[in-house]
Amino acid sequence: MTSAPATDSTDAAAVRLRSVRRVHGDVDALRGVDLTVRPGTFTAVMGPSGSGKSTLLHCAAGLDRPTSGTVEVGGTELTGLSERRLTLLRRDRIGFVFQSFNLVPSLTAAQNVALPLRLAGRRPSRTDVRASLARVGLADRADHRPTELSGGQQQRVALARALITRPAVLFGDEPTGALDTATSRQVLVMLRELVDRERQTIVMVTHDPVAAAYADRVVFLVDGQVADDLTGLTAERIATWTAAGRTGTRQKASGRTAPVLPSHTEAASC
Ligand SMILES: Nc1ncnc2c1ncn2[C@@H]1O[C@H](COP(=O)(O)OP(=O)(O)O)[C@@H](O)[C@H]1O
Ligand SMILES: [Mg+2]
Repeated sequence: MTSAPATDSTDAAAVRLRSVRRVHGDVDALRGVDLTVRPGTFTAVMGPSGSGKSTLLHCAAGLDRPTSGTVEVGGTELTGLSERRLTLLRRDRIGFVFQSFNLVPSLTAAQNVALPLRLAGRRPSRTDVRASLARVGLADRADHRPTELSGGQQQRVALARALITRPAVLFGDEPTGALDTATSRQVLVMLRELVDRERQTIVMVTHDPVAAAYADRVVFLVDGQVADDLTGLTAERIATWTAAGRTGTRQKASGRTAPVLPSHTEAASC
């Protein structure tokens, strides 16, 4: 576990959300989120089901637009962009991996990895595609179709596809959620290495305290707000916090109750 700085006061931001609200009908999915992610850091987003984790990730990645507030990625503000400019920015600057790997079954690993560039009208070189697969340890699987690959290998192909444009930020919504424990750990080790070796910025939603412990920083959402923001946590500490967070959610009806932390010495602002 490294101890990357996690304060919200620097100008050097890979992602910056300011006062982000997102209303779905009568549901306040995000209720004023401020969050700055520094380049080259690994952030986990946790919180109870329905706390707004996916909405936060989608707003940060330009897949959804906030009702109010602003989002910046790699120094570009997304808020005022046209659909076309937003699409281009998503394609060139943002990588996204999902729980279900979303590979095209009829295409080989190499063709899947090349797809985003092909859709953009570019012709990726064989070398670039192979290099992207090599980054995730799959150089020897380039000609295999998804059904010929294990779940972990499929998620690694999805990672290679997300990384081929060298995005400013890689977002993952439960990227290990569909994998067994051992395979999940392999993917997490790979994500950690991407951060440590290549300074890839990663923001990952997860339910799993063990997965979150691979991150430098854990942001806890409760009821659409950041309830805490901690660094250097062990899986045990995260599990304790998660249990406390759930208690806080149940107590919400009687007013906003911040979950009790296991230890205040771990707060990111300290
Ligand atoms: N497209 C949508 N339409 C209506 N409500 C939504 C939509 N997306 C999310 N919500 C609601 O917003 C809240 C947060 O959802 P979500 O961000 O998916 O939470 P999480 O990922 O933490 O489980 C939930 O109450 C959910 O039902
Ligand atoms: Mg979700």
